[in-house]
Amino acid sequence: MAAAISRRGAALSLALARRRMCSASAPAAPRAAAAAALSSEELIRMEQDCSAHNYHPIPMVFSKGEGSHILDPEGNKYIDFLSAYSAVNQGHCHPKVLRALIEQAERLTLSSRAFYNDKFPVFAEYLTSMFGYDMMLPMNTGAEGVETAIKLARKWGYEKKNIPKNEALIVSCCGCFHGRTLGVISMSCDNDATRGFGPLVPGHLKVDFGDINGCLLQRAGYPSILPPDGYLKSVRDLCSRHNILMIDDEIQTGIARTGKMLACDWEDVRPDMVILGKALGAGVVPVSAVLADKDIMLCIKPGEHGSTFGGNPLASAVAVASLKVIKDEGLVQRAADLGEEFRNQLQKVQQKFPHIIREIRGRGLLNAVDLSNKALYPASAYDICIKLKERGILAKPTHDTIIRLAPPLSISSEELAEASKALSDVFEHDLPQMQKQIKKPESEAKTPVCDRRGRDL
Ligand SMILES: Cc1ncc(COP(=O)(O)O)c(C=O)c1O
Repeated sequence: MAAAISRRGAALSLALARRRMCSASAPAAPRAAAAAALSSEELIRMEQDCSAHNYHPIPMVFSKGEGSHILDPEGNKYIDFLSAYSAVNQGHCHPKVLRALIEQAERLTLSSRAFYNDKFPVFAEYLTSMFGYDMMLPMNTGAEGVETAIKLARKWGYEKKNIPKNEALIVSCCGCFHGRTLGVISMSCDNDATRGFGPLVPGHLKVDFGDINGCLLQRAGYPSILPPDGYLKSVRDLCSRHNILMIDDEIQTGIARTGKMLACDWEDVRPDMVILGKALGAGVVPVSAVLADKDIMLCIKPGEHGSTFGGNPLASAVAVASLKVIKDEGLVQRAADLGEEFRNQLQKVQQKFPHIIREIRGRGLLNAVDLSNKALYPASAYDICIKLKERGILAKPTHDTIIRLAPPLSISSEELAEASKALSDVFEHDLPQMQKQIKKPESEAKTPVCDRRGRDL
């Protein structure tokens, strides 16, 4: 006990010393007040000093966004090819979504579900009829949506399938990404996500993506890996045959991103549960939801699950406006058409640099450029993204060799062509230079190791 207290005392004095350090370099209040005048370099340094280092961002500061365009604090203009991991399908600061936000913010922002409010029921009705499910359960972030689906599936398993106590099993796909909470990383095979955070939540089994020997949660890590033809249908059949719930994480792939409303529509599959997030709030507020029919959804009773902010009137108004924009602006078809056009352009770049680009793949406007590690060495996809940024294109690497290209669905053909040209220019002009400049030892290939039951080996 004494040791715990003294450790707490030491931690407190360290925290105070740090606070003094932060305020010594620049007092908190004036710094915040002057934020608009700070340069990109100062802002990046401030974040590095005062925020956890749980990301490795491309050094570019977003200051203003409109549609597919971003301005940095210096007024430089960029085209966004990440869309905040597909949260901004409708385009940055869509005027109709902002109008819904402002109008609702002036009336009411939060009731909590201790009471009813006059916006959530409208959202629930709109969402369920749009996606053809009986009911929805609202949350905020994607990870919360995934946690909700897992809890719901377990509850259904015990109540409706009579699974013995604590023996429910969630089957997920190796290589999946579903968020960062403890329950969710327990489905991960990525040791970077799990190492040091154990013990993981039991009751998980991982299978190879694309292997029909089992899968419950769809690999939603498009476009790193596309489902093999017929895979989702086979998973559906397998689940139906054995009375297993099929849960589909459409947090990133859903809401028009892949050229269909849901990625599972590519195979005309109806999962038992669908999880939505990200673009459900058009990048304006966090909104997530789980969709299911009554026999599943009503397994959760009052008091067994919830969220103070889930179903809040502000998010509900924004979500309805966000979905209406998708429908009214025909963004599903737009993603399909522009996606095809974009892949054709990228394939031309591949023809020019066949030794560098191994594959162009994707659906709709969720695409990946898969690069050869050997041809890049000692550069990586991250270095390519830095050079793309210098040419006005904001893209994010996935692993060492994949570049994800997922612009807002409102992007124009001309802007897509700009990105294709920038990529070609980077390979032609920047890569040879980088290869001379970068000095690093050949990185060892990181092979995820896991025992398929959530134990980090
Ligand atoms: C497929 C998928 N599921 C879940 C999540 C987690 O969402 P959030 O970051 O809002 O918790 C993400 C986020 O990237 C995702 O891509």
